[in-house]
Amino acid sequence: MPPSALRATPFAEDQLALIERLLSEATPDQLHWLSGYLAGFQAASSPRARSATSASGVATAPRAPLTILYATESGNAEALARAARKEATRAGFAPTLLDMADTTPATLPAATPLLVIASTWGEGDPPSRALSFYAALLAPDAPRLDGRRFAVFALGDRAYANFCATGRALDARLAELGAERVAPLVECDLDYAAPARAWTAATLAALAPTTEESDPAVIRVDFARLPSAESDDGDAATPASFEATITERLLLSSSRSTSETWHLELDAAGLAWEPGDSLAFAPRNDPALVDAVLATAGLASDETLRAALTERHDITTLTTPGLAAYAALTNTTMLPASFLEGRQLIDLLESSPARLTAADLTSLLRPLPPRLYSIASAPEFSPGSPHLLVSAVRWQSHGRARLGVASLDLIARRSSSEPFPVTLRPNPHFRLPADPSRPIIMIGPGSGLAPFRAFLQRREAVGAHGKTWLFFGARNFTHDFSYQLELQDWLASGVLARLSLAFSRDQPEKIYVQHRLWESRAEIRRWLDEGAVLYICGDAKAMACDVHATLLRIISDATGTGADSAAAWLRTAVADGRYKRDIY
Ligand SMILES: Cc1cc2nc3c(=O)[nH]c(=O)nc-3n(C[C@H](O)[C@H](O)[C@H](O)COP(=O)(O)OP(=O)(O)OC[C@H]3O[C@@H](n4cnc5c(N)ncnc54)[C@H](O)[C@@H]3O)c2cc1C
Ligand SMILES: Cc1cc2nc3c(=O)[nH]c(=O)nc-3n(C[C@H](O)[C@H](O)[C@H](O)COP(=O)(O)O)c2cc1C
Repeated sequence: MPPSALRATPFAEDQLALIERLLSEATPDQLHWLSGYLAGFQAASSPRARSATSASGVATAPRAPLTILYATESGNAEALARAARKEATRAGFAPTLLDMADTTPATLPAATPLLVIASTWGEGDPPSRALSFYAALLAPDAPRLDGRRFAVFALGDRAYANFCATGRALDARLAELGAERVAPLVECDLDYAAPARAWTAATLAALAPTTEESDPAVIRVDFARLPSAESDDGDAATPASFEATITERLLLSSSRSTSETWHLELDAAGLAWEPGDSLAFAPRNDPALVDAVLATAGLASDETLRAALTERHDITTLTTPGLAAYAALTNTTMLPASFLEGRQLIDLLESSPARLTAADLTSLLRPLPPRLYSIASAPEFSPGSPHLLVSAVRWQSHGRARLGVASLDLIARRSSSEPFPVTLRPNPHFRLPADPSRPIIMIGPGSGLAPFRAFLQRREAVGAHGKTWLFFGARNFTHDFSYQLELQDWLASGVLARLSLAFSRDQPEKIYVQHRLWESRAEIRRWLDEGAVLYICGDAKAMACDVHATLLRIISDATGTGADSAAAWLRTAVADGRYKRDIY
């Protein structure tokens, strides 16, 4: 069909232009994929199509097996995979949901098509529990996957240099091993919900079983199994929202501290959580920064835009694609990537001033991502009132004072009388052991202490007899010892068997939790031999890497084997649920 045939259709001019451009630039493969997508999308989304077809009694194809494989750290990929499973079931597949942590490339269900949903962590690494699968898939002796069809949806954050690195590597490797890519890799920033729905519909359409007689572009959906709109229980990828207000805000660090740590209590009636879970909320940008951005872009009088920049757009993150988009928009030379170091959008607007329209400016901005905070209390200790431990993010760069968007919103700007929505982010992979007599070792410096306060409250509430050992660290004993009295009480009562402290700035040389781990290595090994579960929470950049490296040293030192077998030991501990990390 020539693009001009579209003229006879009910599209508006701008829509026609978009469609014509897309079709004229598409490869034959892309056109084929698109036709499948449209057929599947229409079938899955039109209630009229559903009821008309089921009423007409069209024969249904047998349920085709499908494997949905996910790799997740904080649960986003898992939630999307669950939503995809639901869609796949509706579309007549017999899907199997698999966590990469629980499988290997060699034991994937034979020959079934693969939908892969994977996030990227660390500095472009796979989620920690998916490491073994990932390493095995990328290894030279990975099993061939000829004849298997696949599609990958990559989750990431454009603020990181290695955007969606895990998804990219998985997509490339599956093809290298002989599998057939049925849909192009989709790389997604933090606003992934709508693209994920579109990708799921498209790939299910592309994978739908066809018969020789039927047109290969027509999707056979098992409409009889589609639930009605009334029985639909919502989007599994969208968590339920609760209304919260801040009822208590207490500065835990002293006024002479060089950092700021706050204890917050929320009223969130109806919220039921488990120790280890987090809360997500949508922060608002600093009004002073919004003013500065508007003024620099020559848009100070646009009140609608002011509200949008305050509530909906990310006005701090600056990325390489952002620099390129700004250069293209303003017809200027793109600034080098080195410009990004310590800089934000406001610096770009000031460095290359240009008069922008509101649409120009918002076209440069991604949606303001929600932020997560570990719940620092157990529900039996503070029912309906989750506590948070929030570190204020403040720093100075290029002559400007910078403020963390969400941390400052929570501790300084948000009025305590104003309700705001929060959502629960369950973290089933970061829970206390079911057996209360099992020992636990918790490593949680800074705000990483938050979930461990909830763990200790839970252990106290149920009268657990398992030994508990906490490693906590901060800058100064006198100024930064969060929850000092509670921890000392727990030590006195035996809820906490051991407390190891590392205050980095109390002596000339820096002492961190990993130093305390090393000093206690013999005892740590004894606890591990007794079946202790090891938890790490907090800073991903420095702390978690250094702690992991120290654990490797402790294990290889004990076994007398090399770093490789220590790494293998830790990978097995991850797979067995004896080494759990919640790092950010
Ligand atoms: C599962 C999970 C649980 C979490 N739990 C907690 C918790 O219990 N308590 C808690 O406080 N936080 C927690 N966080 C982190 C929290 O979600 C936010 O990321 C954190 O509060 C910072 O958000 P912000 O909006 O204030 O800062 P942002 O506006 O997002 O600014 C942070 C960014 O600013 C930049 N930056 C920060 N400092 C510097 C510097 N010195 N120099 C240069 N650049 C810098 C970095 O790019 C950094 O990523 C958790 C995160 C996750 C994923
Ligand atoms: C500590 C940390 C490190 C991250 N590193 C990267 C990264 O290197 N590249 C990337 O694209 N995204 C990175 N992300 C973003 C995550 O991939 C993104 O939040 C994703 O939605 C998480 O999905 P999950 O909950 O399924 O793990 C990182 C996020 C955090 C908190």
